[in-house]
Amino acid sequence: MLQDSFGRRFYYLRLSITDVCNFRCNYCLPDGYKKDGQRSFLTRSEIVNLVSGFASAGTQKVRITGGEPALRKDLIDIIGDIKNIPGIQTVAMTTNGYRLGSLLQGLDDAGLDQLNVSIDSLDPQVFQTITGHDRLNEILAALQQAQMTGIKHIKVNAVLMRDLNDRELDTFLAWIKDQDLTLRFIEVMQTGDNTEFFEKRHLSGAALQVRLLEQGWQAIIRNHDAGPAVEYWHPDYQGRIGLIMPYSQDFCRSCNRLRVSAEGKVHLCLFGDHGYDIRHLIQQPEQRPQLTDFLSEVLKDKKVSHFLQQGHSGITRDLSMIGG
Ligand code: GTP
Ligand code: 5AD
Ligand code: SF4
Repeated sequence: MLQDSFGRRFYYLRLSITDVCNFRCNYCLPDGYKKDGQRSFLTRSEIVNLVSGFASAGTQKVRITGGEPALRKDLIDIIGDIKNIPGIQTVAMTTNGYRLGSLLQGLDDAGLDQLNVSIDSLDPQVFQTITGHDRLNEILAALQQAQMTGIKHIKVNAVLMRDLNDRELDTFLAWIKDQDLTLRFIEVMQTGDNTEFFEKRHLSGAALQVRLLEQGWQAIIRNHDAGPAVEYWHPDYQGRIGLIMPYSQDFCRSCNRLRVSAEGKVHLCLFGDHGYDIRHLIQQPEQRPQLTDFLSEVLKDKKVSHFLQQGHSGITRDLSMIGG
């Protein structure tokens, strides 16, 4: 099992398969996707070698991210490939939902276990202001359909933003009363180029936490290997709530994931490391021992947390590229 110097174990891989995105969420890619030069994303066989290597080092869960992963034509094949790798128990995906309706059947057939969809507002106009697309109703319809498939865990991500969607808390809560899903509120994270936005819109999840507790929401006792989100349930609600508060002091203590970018670099943290190239180690299945040795070695560099004083910048430069 991959482990760092602080005893944290990494059984969860977040794999970006493209950094292209068709949305322009105001906290992420406000000017839309722009990249100079030719991109060369990991191929299916590189992905199989990569995930097989991670699986032999103890990885049990893989989350496919982007950019927007559904923009890759071979997405469903990739999910099927990963699902068949011995040791991989859970395959998850995070998407903006744009192509979800047309892909659902294929995703279900390929064996996708968990699905996270970003829905930052339940008001079509606010949704469009945030993402640049008037697609809320189609995405909600696809989400409804997804609940009738074999995909077992569905989560909705809403990035909390002052004076944008913070007034919608009651609407969101009413919505999950009869929905079997987890709604996660995420604090805006500071990226290389959203400083002004961050300062204007960042809201701490702590105030929301107090409000939820006052309304009878109760913390869910977490598995020792659960990630950094804190979760709540309520006897009157079918849905659950998760809070992701990356600026809270003990957030990193439960870090259980490694990230790989779409061009094959391992990132030890969402915040600030430059990435370690492993593409040359995933060309042939026989390279697995070299890959796992390399991973154990680089993990020695993992810092105790992403906070400034502990060796990181406190800013994540690569969020859109490594999919959060
Ligand atoms: P689960 O597998 O469902 O626990 O998902 P997740 O929360 O890791 O997945 P998702 O891709 O939906 O991420 C939701 C948000 O949480 C994104 O904004 C991520 O950047 C953020 N997030 C997830 N893990 C971490 C982490 O380790 N550190 C930080 N800072 N943010 C994270
Ligand atoms: N801060 C917080 N969350 C973000 N996401 C993207 N950029 C940011 C940011 N700067 C979220 C998206 C999506 C998930 C993959 O990451 O809303 O739900
Ligand atoms: Fe695209 Fe996700 Fe960034 Fe929105 S948050 S622009 S959907 S990568």
